[in-house]
Amino acid sequence: MQSSKQSTNSFSSSLGAIMAAVGSAVGLGNIWRFPYICGKYGGGAFLLVYICFVFGIGMMLMMSEFVIGRRSRHTPVKAFESLSPKHKGWRYVGVLGLITCFFILAQYLVISGWTLSYFFDAITGRMATMGQDSVVLKEYFTAFSTSALRPVVFLSVFAVLTAIVILGGVQKGIEAVSKVLMPVLVVLLVLLCVRSLTLPGASKGLEYLFSPDFSKLTAEGVLAAMGQAMFSLSVGMGVMIVYGSYIPVSDNLFRTSMWITASDTFIAILAGVAIFPAVFSCGMEPTSGPGLSFCVLPSVFNSMGGVMGTIFASMFFLLLGIAALTSAISLLEALSAWLLETLRTHRWTATLIVIVAEIALAVVVSLSNGVWSDFHITDITFFDFVDRLNSIYLPPLGALGTVLFLGWVLPSDELHDELSNQGTLRAVYYPAVRFIIRWVAPLALLVVFVSSLL
Ligand code: TRP
Repeated sequence: MQSSKQSTNSFSSSLGAIMAAVGSAVGLGNIWRFPYICGKYGGGAFLLVYICFVFGIGMMLMMSEFVIGRRSRHTPVKAFESLSPKHKGWRYVGVLGLITCFFILAQYLVISGWTLSYFFDAITGRMATMGQDSVVLKEYFTAFSTSALRPVVFLSVFAVLTAIVILGGVQKGIEAVSKVLMPVLVVLLVLLCVRSLTLPGASKGLEYLFSPDFSKLTAEGVLAAMGQAMFSLSVGMGVMIVYGSYIPVSDNLFRTSMWITASDTFIAILAGVAIFPAVFSCGMEPTSGPGLSFCVLPSVFNSMGGVMGTIFASMFFLLLGIAALTSAISLLEALSAWLLETLRTHRWTATLIVIVAEIALAVVVSLSNGVWSDFHITDITFFDFVDRLNSIYLPPLGALGTVLFLGWVLPSDELHDELSNQGTLRAVYYPAVRFIIRWVAPLALLVVFVSSLL
């Protein structure tokens, strides 16, 4: 019984684990957030700082979650409990992570629904009829995103799609889908890069992205780099604990984390190269977030005209949909696996409960853009409130709890065991990793969290 459970609740290979985790990490953050903040805070100068953070701290956080997951073979709450039976309070780090997952998934479903709807607009040629006028496109987006029915229908379709993958299980669902979709994503991205780079005036976009300007690299920029490094790697909410619990015992966790971090960074940079030269070549302004994908880029595609515009627009929204789907899969898996373990029910039951609750929250988030926009928390809409929770407040707290636990609560030989695979690997990096987990990461996270409160 035990062994059959182990084999289905595990990725089949190193590659499968990497693909699934890259799928989680590569999301909206890579495509619509990274290029913009990179340009805004000094291009190449920002990139340098980002790379230091993403490998120096983000990757360590990811590895920490993998260690906790693989060591305990449990979902977040139980993972902390089982690794420190004497200090039960640490389970709340897991609880916090699950709450964060719940909010992020709701937001992801809403935006993924938009993406799906725009994909249909693109492929049916409807987008092409809207022309290049950014005012018109913006009006369309506002009318669409504030309407009641269409976004809700599409977010529900997307949620069902995500649930179907989860019902397939760890190997035949998550791993199989990621192994197909991640290469497709890279191919789409490369094709978009080629198109973008061959447009007249493309070099202006590259300049914006990469030319280093240290005067723009402010303290705010450094904090943004740190926040983005964590958000982009999906750490701080226990998702990587769940995926870590599926990583084969023979895998080298350091190497796995490094591959994931490198791929995530590479894809973020590629996204910048695919998008910004095209934006500049049309004389448009760079922006981030929904405005970029749903207002600026449609105008860019429409300016390519005819069939080409339709093809590239469809490719882009497909790409965005894939990036969002594999991230949503990891979020739903974290929540379903937790419920599965807690209630000891069937995978079907657990997934069904989570997805219904999740759709309900997502509908509220979606409607808070339109019919319920008068409902405010503090002075912002529910949509913006959830966005802030997800991107600023909750992840650093969860990550802080995780590294404090690993650095100060878990006996150090357990960390060494996991990094060296019971002493079979020469983990020369162990002392450095431990130092970062005990001192550097907690201090950095504290700074990020406190400054976000101010
Ligand atoms: N990494 C995702 C992105 O870049 C966002 C994200 C943050 C996420 N935390 C997550 C995705 C947890 C899945 C699971 O867009």
